[in-house]
Amino acid sequence: MTHSATLPYPSQHPAQYPAEPLAVRPSLTYAGGLPRLLPSYGAVPVDLETHLRSHGRLPYRGRPELITGDVEAAGLTGRGGAAFPTYRKLAAVAGYGRTPVVVGNGAEGEPASNKDKSLLWISPHLVLDGLQLAAEAVGSRTVGLYVHRNPRLHQHLAAAIAQRAHAGIDAARVELIEAPPRFLAGEESALASVTSGGPALPRFKPPRASQRGVADRPTLVQNVETLAHLALIGRYGAAWFRSVGTADEPGSMLTTLHYADGSRNVVEVPLGIPITDLLRLDGQVQAVLAGGYHGTWLPAAQAAQLPLANAALRPLGAAVGAGVLAALPAGRCGVAETARVVRYLALESAGQCGPCFNGLPRMATALGSLAGPRPDPQARADLERWSGLVVGRGACHHPEGTVRLIRSALQVFAGEIDRHARGQCTGSSRQPFLPLPAEPALDEADWR
Ligand SMILES: Cc1cc2nc3c(=O)[nH]c(=O)nc-3n(C[C@H](O)[C@H](O)[C@H](O)COP(=O)(O)O)c2cc1C
Ligand code: SF4
Repeated sequence: MTHSATLPYPSQHPAQYPAEPLAVRPSLTYAGGLPRLLPSYGAVPVDLETHLRSHGRLPYRGRPELITGDVEAAGLTGRGGAAFPTYRKLAAVAGYGRTPVVVGNGAEGEPASNKDKSLLWISPHLVLDGLQLAAEAVGSRTVGLYVHRNPRLHQHLAAAIAQRAHAGIDAARVELIEAPPRFLAGEESALASVTSGGPALPRFKPPRASQRGVADRPTLVQNVETLAHLALIGRYGAAWFRSVGTADEPGSMLTTLHYADGSRNVVEVPLGIPITDLLRLDGQVQAVLAGGYHGTWLPAAQAAQLPLANAALRPLGAAVGAGVLAALPAGRCGVAETARVVRYLALESAGQCGPCFNGLPRMATALGSLAGPRPDPQARADLERWSGLVVGRGACHHPEGTVRLIRSALQVFAGEIDRHARGQCTGSSRQPFLPLPAEPALDEADWR
């Protein structure tokens, strides 16, 4: 670590973020030159003049065919969670015959993640450049930026967009769209619905948003970090992008780190970095949550042997996801932590698919019982059975993600569950460790 700074992040939505500002440690230095997305001098927002001085003007003007080829050569994958190859989406959306819509996804509904808000606040012009290039690649002039509800962040982005319009940089006008502060709001079909004027509700696929999304037009939805990488690949090329990361998972990514002492950080790291380079995994840490609240608990000793790469994590049922890593300290009850998160996830179900709407609250109750002093002896078996009943039966992957978290907790904290059955608990602190919004969705209006 060569640098540390405090992020002057806009006052956070009271129902979504912890009150304290998030630190950003942008300048871990690697051979290929990191940081790329966040400036090396700290967490000060980069204005247009500084941005243009650092990176020059937008490349590719009038040569859209080059963009998709360069993105393919770079091996860029989506940083919104699924790591889908970006060039395949660009090619697909451009090929459906109707003029597409392009939307940058900065909803970041995951309460444990802060990397997209940090990126939008500090490096808005990289994201806006990426949006322009993506629009050019798919032949669109209808472009939106879907951003988590936060008045200061919206003001900041509106000013950046206006500055660019004044400088005549952009071919397409970017419309800012407010994402409701809900876990599901960033799911691409929910995004398409909000952008079309509807509620943030996912819908069954097919059709995918890439085929029929905003106003029933083919819609390219890319995470804002993916777009920022695209802006840099356009300037510096595929070989430069690949100079960090692994051959199969090239490049860098932003991660939100939750340290065992309760502090948090957003760091840009190369894919494939050992997890122990990011989190201190000594006897003070019992487990690591990889991939956020749709992610997977790993025992600390196992996580200490792993790199931050899907090739290593997927065989264990885990994934890099959107880059959340949380080190659960000794002295906290992993079952109670998971039960709190699952209760939140159950309340965030959009309530349109029976198995999800009925199943997740029951699972939350069963896990709550396992976390308590006199657990229902049936609860563990019920959780196993219900897991099988909700998976694959919803319009979105919310049930799958929630079940992944529950199943990993049942395994990793099996000893703790046994202890609860005997009326004991190793948790010496009941202070919540994983962040949650203050208030879950209450009624239908909250989805708008
Ligand atoms: C429940 C759920 C929530 C999601 N939330 C977000 C989000 O907040 N931001 C995001 O970029 N992608 C989110 N995604 C993924 C999007 O659906 C979509 O795949 C992504 O924005 C595509 O961008 P990428 O290919 O650049 O990653 C979510 C997916 C699911 C299933
Ligand atoms: S699966 Fe659950 S969260 Fe997803 S759309 Fe259906 S009810 Fe809503």
